[in-house]
Amino acid sequence: MIPKLALLLAVLVAVAFPSADGRETPAQKEVRMKWWTEARFGMFIHWGLYALPARHEWVKNRERLTDEAYAKYFDHFNPDLYDPKGWARTAKASGMKYFVVTTKHHEGFCLFDSKFTDYKATKTPYGRDLIAPLVQAMRDEGLKVGFYYSLIDWHHPEYAVDENHPQAGNAEFREKAKNRDMAKYREYLFAQVREILTNYGKIDCLFLDFSFPGKDGKGRADWDSERLLKMIRELQPGIIVNDRLDLLDVPGGWDFRTPEQYMPREWVKVDGQKVPWETCQTFSGSWGYHRDEATWKSVRQLVLMLIETVSKGGNLLLNVGPTARGTFDDRAMDRLAGIGAWMKLHDRSITGCTEAPEGLAKAERCLFTYNPAARRLYVHVLEWPMGTIVLEGLGGKVKYAQLLNDASEIAFRDAKTPRDLGYMGYLPGERREEANAVILRLPVKPPDVAVPVIELFLK
Ligand code: GLC
Repeated sequence: MIPKLALLLAVLVAVAFPSADGRETPAQKEVRMKWWTEARFGMFIHWGLYALPARHEWVKNRERLTDEAYAKYFDHFNPDLYDPKGWARTAKASGMKYFVVTTKHHEGFCLFDSKFTDYKATKTPYGRDLIAPLVQAMRDEGLKVGFYYSLIDWHHPEYAVDENHPQAGNAEFREKAKNRDMAKYREYLFAQVREILTNYGKIDCLFLDFSFPGKDGKGRADWDSERLLKMIRELQPGIIVNDRLDLLDVPGGWDFRTPEQYMPREWVKVDGQKVPWETCQTFSGSWGYHRDEATWKSVRQLVLMLIETVSKGGNLLLNVGPTARGTFDDRAMDRLAGIGAWMKLHDRSITGCTEAPEGLAKAERCLFTYNPAARRLYVHVLEWPMGTIVLEGLGGKVKYAQLLNDASEIAFRDAKTPRDLGYMGYLPGERREEANAVILRLPVKPPDVAVPVIELFLK
């Protein structure tokens, strides 16, 4: 009894107070990340000079372009139709609650007005800072602000050439670049991260990209990751930082995992523990605007992606690659409008929701999300069945049920016998109390939405 009590006390103390070295407790981290966890859905924006070639943001690397060859995109960068307020309205109308924009991508071009380089939007024909008005517009629409910043830099003269550099295979270039001084690049990196976290007010999250440790790669020593992260947290207490600083094994070295372009099979775990995660996904195969890429996902696929992500306790950061005119192209607008139409009616099954408690819901061809605060379970019906859905694990637990899109009642009853569950006759050995299910009676016609949702109010 005594040791048990002592253990309980130790756990309570650990949860309530930060550890001696000043790190936060799991409970404190949960509080810090609350808005993010509840938001569930954000907009990624990949914008830069690569919008002009319009064939992938890695074009400089893929085509082994030199700085000279790439310069024409800088010289012609003039997004005359850029409308940050319009972007913010679109993000909001799509049901997104935060955004993350590339302040600098691997190409090294800065969308913000940095004091430490001329390779920035203000020096192009466009001549203005692209970040400040976007931050303002998004905030005005109530979205939280996130910055992406590329650790990699294919333009900086002191950035040591590595396996991912556009000139990696160019022996002559490598020879000339062999005395590049990463200490100088680090100064630049620190100075720029300081700028973006100082000049734009409160920044809610930061997406640093990326580490590839190894012989010809870069990792924590190259970025001085631990010191960088310390500076970040000092400049913006409360900021939420991703996991690409090569500090996965360092306590407090990351806030969430970032599976990219794939759907995890279940809630992402580290050392057997469920952790915060956010999957970033594209509409098609490129992050930057790609004119000719044709593998665009449908609205339904994207809505399903969002539901599946939340059903596994994660966030979805869905990417738009604006054009070099400064617009979201028609394909992007079509998908965002479709997602927005669904979200307008079904926001409740996404925002504030998470994985359903274990054992509470099981049914084929359905995905479940759960709002613990409201005690509501959301049944996303992927294929509309004939007449009924049997939900296992819910016997006696449902107070009320309705379609979410129009709040029309769905009749239900508890399954009392195996016959209720659809058996033609009683199976030998089956007992009454084994039926722990609820049977929903569905209309013949599904509602006309991308994915129908039934909202269950639990007792
Ligand atoms: C990658 C790519 C990149 C993209 C990012 C998004 O690491 O290098 O182009 O910005 O992932 O997660």
